[in-house]
Amino acid sequence: MLTLTQQLTERLGEAIQKIQDSNIPEKYSASVTATTDTRFGDYQSNAAMALAKNLGMSPRELAANIIDLLEVEDLCKNPEIAGPGFINFRIKGNAIESRINEIRTCSRLGVENSPVPEKILIDFSSPNIAKPMHIGHIRSTIIGDCLARVGRFLGHEVIADNHIGDWGTPIGQVIYGWKNHLNEKAFDTDPVKELLRLYQTIKEQFDSDPDVNKACLEETVRLQSGDKESLDLWNRFKDITMSGSQKIYDRLGIVFDTTLGESFYDDKLGPLVDELLSKKIAQESDGAVCVFSNNELEPKHDPLLVKRDGEWIPVPCIVRKKDGAFNYATTDIATIDHRVNEIEAKTILYVVDDRQSLHFRQLFEVARQRKINANLKHVSFGKILGDDKKPFKTREGSVPDLSAVLQEAVDRAQNVVEEKSNNLSEEEKENVAERIGIGAVKYAELSQARVSDYVFSWDKMLSLQGNTAPYMINAYVRTKSIFRKIGNDSPEISEELSISADSERAIAIKLCQYGEIVLEILSDHRPNILATYLYELAQTFHSFYEQCPVLSTEGTTRNTRLALCQTTSAVLKHGLGLLGIFPPEKM
Ligand code: ARG
Repeated sequence: MLTLTQQLTERLGEAIQKIQDSNIPEKYSASVTATTDTRFGDYQSNAAMALAKNLGMSPRELAANIIDLLEVEDLCKNPEIAGPGFINFRIKGNAIESRINEIRTCSRLGVENSPVPEKILIDFSSPNIAKPMHIGHIRSTIIGDCLARVGRFLGHEVIADNHIGDWGTPIGQVIYGWKNHLNEKAFDTDPVKELLRLYQTIKEQFDSDPDVNKACLEETVRLQSGDKESLDLWNRFKDITMSGSQKIYDRLGIVFDTTLGESFYDDKLGPLVDELLSKKIAQESDGAVCVFSNNELEPKHDPLLVKRDGEWIPVPCIVRKKDGAFNYATTDIATIDHRVNEIEAKTILYVVDDRQSLHFRQLFEVARQRKINANLKHVSFGKILGDDKKPFKTREGSVPDLSAVLQEAVDRAQNVVEEKSNNLSEEEKENVAERIGIGAVKYAELSQARVSDYVFSWDKMLSLQGNTAPYMINAYVRTKSIFRKIGNDSPEISEELSISADSERAIAIKLCQYGEIVLEILSDHRPNILATYLYELAQTFHSFYEQCPVLSTEGTTRNTRLALCQTTSAVLKHGLGLLGIFPPEKM
């Protein structure tokens, strides 16, 4: 079952081949995209503009040649040349009707599996133990989960890996804090909070007081050399933190396939560094062991070099510090080995904020020097800002705790429920508020371009107007209410469709595009492509619904409109599901 884009691409390709000119690249694939302004048609291609130069023609002249050779009578009315040489296509009513019939009767709603299914490991969320999850973890957690859902739906084997930070110096700091500053009462009331307090107290002293610094490092060494008391404490901290995180994951509906964490790789670090040394990938430098540039890359693309005062100087990736300790990079290199050799992942996505971009560029360069055969990608994202455009803080000035943020979202969603839902029981209202509140936080995240910073605004994300979860959920509920009115959630709808009114056509074309959009999300790991599509679909549906009465009509018109409502409903629910948002059936 080909999407309209795929069908047009195929036909264009055939027409272009007929030109039989050796200047046309052998595997040329024309690009076809949905038009942004439907007055110019539904789809367009810039193939003529792309090829004209090769053929020594003007783009418009070539477009005319291509159109002469095109066989698309079954799909569109006469394709037109527009502007500098675009070829515009307006899809014929019966082609839309048969595509709608295909989509609405297929459980995948017109979305094909990925043509190249592979094993993809997604490293996301990955909080550090002894610290509660805070607002900064929300982006990684929500984006990573969405990519995992989309990947699975497209037929990839996805491993969701929560690479928790459960090893190294911070743990030594908390153990030292525990032994010297524990407030037992505070610990009994809120263990995660007390662990955080210990960590924060010690972290300050660690930087300013050499004795504390030394004592913490000794605790770290003791832990890493397997001391029983330290390990017991470490396990306890880990359980406490992870049970707090688990509550958040449960509430968000997020499941991981594996949570090995940094500690799992501890015994692999020594042998790894030996291997790097013996293969001459790393070398000793000032007592530390480092990977330097091997000058295979152009300096400006080499993350192991930096330009200072007009000269390229090394910024090596340190894999063993002077004091013999391994670090974050060493663990990440060992982690790649495990993921590639044991798990056999072909692609590894790191959903981590952009402040770590140098770390990942260096990590990937080390992997390149080691000839690791996998596709590694840093799916990076920006910061969450408050209304003042500064990093989002609580009123007291601290970084908001994630569970408190989710609770506040649900509390605030109650206002939306009060405004919209007067026919629900108290229990139903609670359920709707939960779905809207959690949905709002997720949607606010996923509707942003991930690379940019965004402003976390309660009013905006919970508004019933605009590109928000409440708006999307309301649209879905509206599609459902039609079927409630006829007292049948899945009425018999026949294949006999007649799409004639402009707004019928508009919603139908949008529905045909679902299969095109979902396939695109993973090409640059951008969930906001899907959010934008769903928002446009919901808007198009609203105008269709206003202009085209459904229940007062009969015959083919009613059948067609019911089919469009039902398909919209299914696509909205499915698409929101890929974003990890589960709308209620009524509100
Ligand atoms: N625990 C790290 C942090 O909170 C994130 C880990 C990301 N994953 C990785 N493989 N480095 O900064």
